[in-house]
Amino acid sequence: NSMLSWQRTAYHFQPEKNWMNVLNVKDTNFFLVSLWVWLRLAVLGELGLSASDPNVVTIWAGPMYYKGWYHFFYQYNPKGAVWGTIVWGHAVSRDLIHWLHLPLAMVADQWYDQNGVWTGSATILPDGQVIMLYTGSTNESVQVQNLAYPADPSDPLLVDWIKYPSNPVLFPPPGIDTKDFRDPTTAWLTSEGKWRLSIGSKLNKTGIALVYDTSDFKTYERVEGLLRAVPGTGMWECVDFFPVSSEGENGLDASINGENVKHVVKVSLDDDRHDYYAVGTYDEKNAKFTPDDLKNDVGIGLRYDYGIFYASKTFYDQSNGRRVLWSWIGESDSEYADVAKGWASIQGIPRTVTLDKKSGSSLLQWPVAEVESLRLGSNEFENLKVKPGSVVPLEVGTAAQLDIVAEFEIDMKALEMTGQSNKEYECSTSGGAAERGALGPFGLLVLADDDLSEYTPTYFYVVKGNDGQLKTSFCSDQLRSSLATDVGKKIFGSSVTVLEDEKLSVRILVDHSVVESFAQGGRTCVTSRVYPTKAIYGAARLFLFNNATQVTVTASVKVWQMNSAFIRPFNPQQSNS
Ligand code: FRU
Repeated sequence: NSMLSWQRTAYHFQPEKNWMNVLNVKDTNFFLVSLWVWLRLAVLGELGLSASDPNVVTIWAGPMYYKGWYHFFYQYNPKGAVWGTIVWGHAVSRDLIHWLHLPLAMVADQWYDQNGVWTGSATILPDGQVIMLYTGSTNESVQVQNLAYPADPSDPLLVDWIKYPSNPVLFPPPGIDTKDFRDPTTAWLTSEGKWRLSIGSKLNKTGIALVYDTSDFKTYERVEGLLRAVPGTGMWECVDFFPVSSEGENGLDASINGENVKHVVKVSLDDDRHDYYAVGTYDEKNAKFTPDDLKNDVGIGLRYDYGIFYASKTFYDQSNGRRVLWSWIGESDSEYADVAKGWASIQGIPRTVTLDKKSGSSLLQWPVAEVESLRLGSNEFENLKVKPGSVVPLEVGTAAQLDIVAEFEIDMKALEMTGQSNKEYECSTSGGAAERGALGPFGLLVLADDDLSEYTPTYFYVVKGNDGQLKTSFCSDQLRSSLATDVGKKIFGSSVTVLEDEKLSVRILVDHSVVESFAQGGRTCVTSRVYPTKAIYGAARLFLFNNATQVTVTASVKVWQMNSAFIRPFNPQQSNS
């Protein structure tokens, strides 16, 4: 397994030596999966590799902050290498960066979750009580909602959980398929003092968010109508609903409503495996959300991230007065490679989310400040002129674990002389960093080796439109990220709003096999997984590049080496001795 160990991340959360499965498990035929796993293990055996103690972890459950600890519950199969009977893994942290693995929080030991303890959410009541609602897949694969609570609320680690003896508390309502009713949200208060929550589903091909009210989390009444419905989007997983302040930078508790508050609905589309959100207005009386940008509502909204990013959730972090968004990041290598390396999937670095007051109805996402505690020494490069068609090495030493902040300015004279174009640029259908235009691409090559046999470009591409306005795209290109052939080679990205007074700016977190990038303060984000074979550990390098034909760009870059995070099993005996 050491053969592929460089792909393990050093400061992103992932379970110990186990593996996470990226299968869309719900729809998987068990026999086929068993056969597939058996074949893969047989092949591994041939190669003398082993997938010992393999465990499957997918997606996750409910994040929250309690008595000084952040709690992370995730979908975990302790019994085998395939997605099977999912239980809740559990880890705790003081700062969202360093983690201690704890014993399983809940296992599949009841008829109503015998087929899996699936995604749920925590609600912390005003008196401090913790309510956990989760989806159980029953012995007959019916999706029901169950209630659980801590056995000992005075234990800050919340190690033991009790399932409510009269579970399930909610069955699929009439007209809803029994396999399309899952992932309850955190509850919020109505002005009448009831708790309200939403559950994702679909009706024919229309994705929908059902609404329920409850006073005690044991009995529920269905609220007529739907929080949101968008035709053609299919099953909605992991619905998230939360308020954002249209005034301040602070986050809001789920129950906050009123003036200077907007609301966000996020859904994870099972059909295309991306997370979409829209900012809008919540009408409490009708339990209905209306997006600000009605044009956008023809579709489903904006993406949190244009790379690999799914089943995310937010929670209100009362200790820091912020709303934190956290996502599951799958793999884009082959299943064979996943078995060989013994794990699959990681968590992204948690992000603070706020409303982007300048650009309108969209959010800004930024890595939580705590990640900066991992910053070690830094190198600064100021006002480097990067000429058209050039690559400039940045001497930062090894470059497998970095935090990079960069700003770019296009030479004004050259910009004025550049002709207008009616070209519509799109990262995903472009030729990537190799395709040259007048005003782009330019940016950074991360996880590169000295010979540039491997590199991952993260860059801007600017087009001067027929109206004379500049349109900017932000992309991350996997095409030359690895000499391996069995890995994803796509170009991720999207357009990014750049306001008059803004320079082009980007923050990039590099961690062995993950590259998380945030353009224009987190207005457009792209997370990519890459699997270099040469640009690893001490051989990893960093370069600036400018592949535009017309303009010189001036770049200022600050680069920090990043420490590894402490992510280990919690062993009280050990720490006592
Ligand atoms: C998300 C999801 C949820 C479900 C869980 C099952 O991808 O499918 O809808 O609760 O994972 O593991």
